[in-house]
Amino acid sequence: MSEYQENSVVESIERLADALYRLTLHAPCIAAAAKPGQFIMAACGHSLDPLLRRPFSIHQAATSGTIQLLFKVIGRGTNLLSELRPGQSLSLLGPLGHGFQLPPSGPLCLIGGGIGIAPLFFLATKWLQQPRPPESCVVLLGSRTAEEIRQLATDFSELGCLVGTATDDGSLGHHGLVSDLLPPFLSDLKQVCTCGPTAMMAAIAGLCRDTAVPCETSLESHMACGLGACLGCAIPGADGHYKHVCKHGPVFNAEEVAWSR
Ligand SMILES: Cc1cc2nc3c(=O)[nH]c(=O)nc-3n(C[C@H](O)[C@H](O)[C@H](O)COP(=O)(O)OP(=O)(O)OC[C@H]3O[C@@H](n4cnc5c(N)ncnc54)[C@H](O)[C@@H]3O)c2cc1C
Ligand code: FES
Repeated sequence: MSEYQENSVVESIERLADALYRLTLHAPCIAAAAKPGQFIMAACGHSLDPLLRRPFSIHQAATSGTIQLLFKVIGRGTNLLSELRPGQSLSLLGPLGHGFQLPPSGPLCLIGGGIGIAPLFFLATKWLQQPRPPESCVVLLGSRTAEEIRQLATDFSELGCLVGTATDDGSLGHHGLVSDLLPPFLSDLKQVCTCGPTAMMAAIAGLCRDTAVPCETSLESHMACGLGACLGCAIPGADGHYKHVCKHGPVFNAEEVAWSR
């Protein structure tokens, strides 16, 4: 797998909701090599603060040489990213890690919770590169409020997906958990791919196990290097051995993960 350190150039930055941004970067080497589910490490500041690069999923990669990041401002690094303007540069390392493995045919169900929606748009784009009906790409999106997913739900619909939504406050779609939307689809599905809070993915992994539907999960952990060198991103595996999210993942078959530990 090819990895690049690339000085990307900001093409645009959109504010989708209060603290949610979509950043479009010209990064032709990373864009050409990227696979859905992979991530980049971004040097968010030009000084020593923050010292470490921050990991972000590749939200989209285009043949025109751009990649997109979808990010939520939660601290120093993401705040600096939100202040980037067109023409400025951002040093990236990537694409890193292992992405989603897809079955030869669908239907597929992509389930994203909160900022975990980020890698699923690139995945849906790749899946729908072959002409397929909307039922072959069911997308279920969950968030706290409508504001956080309204634009993303529109984007998935326009891509040709069948979209369902769930919000904690009932302001869009189902009032409750996004995992509540999955059971009616399960009997037809060839695979589920999910990214979001651990509790959400554990619930989805359980539903898939009960119905023998393969499930791929994209995990998050604190990362210092993103390259398998610092061992800071270890998570317990179902086989009793630790796995490194940056090298072995971030996408794992749900059966490889020890959800209850
Ligand atoms: C593989 C991978 C892909 C990711 N993709 C995205 C993405 O597409 N979009 C996005 O917005 N974020 C994504 N993240 C999370 C993102 O890396 C963090 O939000 C970012 O590093 C925060 O940096 P900061 O300097 O703004 O916050 P910091 O100042 O570093 O942290 C602020 C607070 O958030 C907590 N925190 C930071 N990182 C994490 C984490 N990974 N898990 C739990 N708590 C954390 C810290 O403990 C601290 O309390 C991803 C993480 C991983 C590992
Ligand atoms: S982040 Fe350093 S080993 Fe995974």
